Amino acid sequence: MEIYLNGSFMNHEEARISPADRGFLFGDGIYEVTRVVHGELFREREHLKRLDEGLNGLRVHLDPDVRNKIPEIGRELLERNRLTSGEASIYLQVTRGAAWPRTHTFPDTEVKPTLYMSAAPFKPHNELHQAGVDTISVPDIRWTRCNLKTVNLLPNTLAKQQARDAGANSAVMIRDGVVTESPNANIFGVKEGTLYTFPESNYILSGITRGVVLEIADKLAIPRKMVPIRQDELFDIDELFFSGTTTDIQPINRVDGKPIGSGKPGPVVKAIQNEYKNMLYQ
Ligand SMILES: Cc1ncc(COP(=O)(O)O)c(C=O)c1O
Repeated sequence: MEIYLNGSFMNHEEARISPADRGFLFGDGIYEVTRVVHGELFREREHLKRLDEGLNGLRVHLDPDVRNKIPEIGRELLERNRLTSGEASIYLQVTRGAAWPRTHTFPDTEVKPTLYMSAAPFKPHNELHQAGVDTISVPDIRWTRCNLKTVNLLPNTLAKQQARDAGANSAVMIRDGVVTESPNANIFGVKEGTLYTFPESNYILSGITRGVVLEIADKLAIPRKMVPIRQDELFDIDELFFSGTTTDIQPINRVDGKPIGSGKPGPVVKAIQNEYKNMLYQ
């Protein structure tokens, strides 16, 4: 596999990052994951916009020439790894760069941010999309800047592992008595035909797929409310599902062993899945 690191393409086994990199020492960086179908990046503009917002949020100054080359680098990675047909994903990470000695404050002298990008084949979880998944509920112990897609993912990885240890697929995170999102996807609920989801804010990541689901809701004339699902009404709703770049639209059958609605994927999530696939594979 060939990857891109700081201006060069190379075999991923040859890639080296300094132990002084602030991504390694502080988790001082952001990332993006984009889906690719037959060489086309799905919602590329939206991912790049979120990347720019993340860079601004972290006050990381990526050279504009380098930033503007990102789409080209992505395409070259797809070609070098023979991923221009079929399905793939592109991973991108920017950190503030390597600075020594280690200090919490930003480096006094300007350092070059580290830019890493890779492309890999992607296989959608079609059987899970059809059957639905089981989840557990966990407290959302993350910080209050969840709108930034930072590489600080420990609460997310711990929650995901806790779900796996419990024999579940993923977790539904709860903050202040309401459902926020999952460790790697946004969450929607359906009650009496209306779609509910946590409002855009610093408590969730503004998912690109979440935005697509809202577009689909409008197209299909599904009423939608930016109102979070309360934990105490979780089992009164009819449907619950995840949305995310690698998750796609994923129905949730159960939380903590208790069924949501019929305990099977419902009609609204199926209609949204269908439309989402049309858009992704058009
Ligand atoms: C915490 C979190 N929420 C939501 C999402 C979904 O975002 P997107 O649809 O842009 O992939 C992700 C994706 O990784 C995520 O990590």
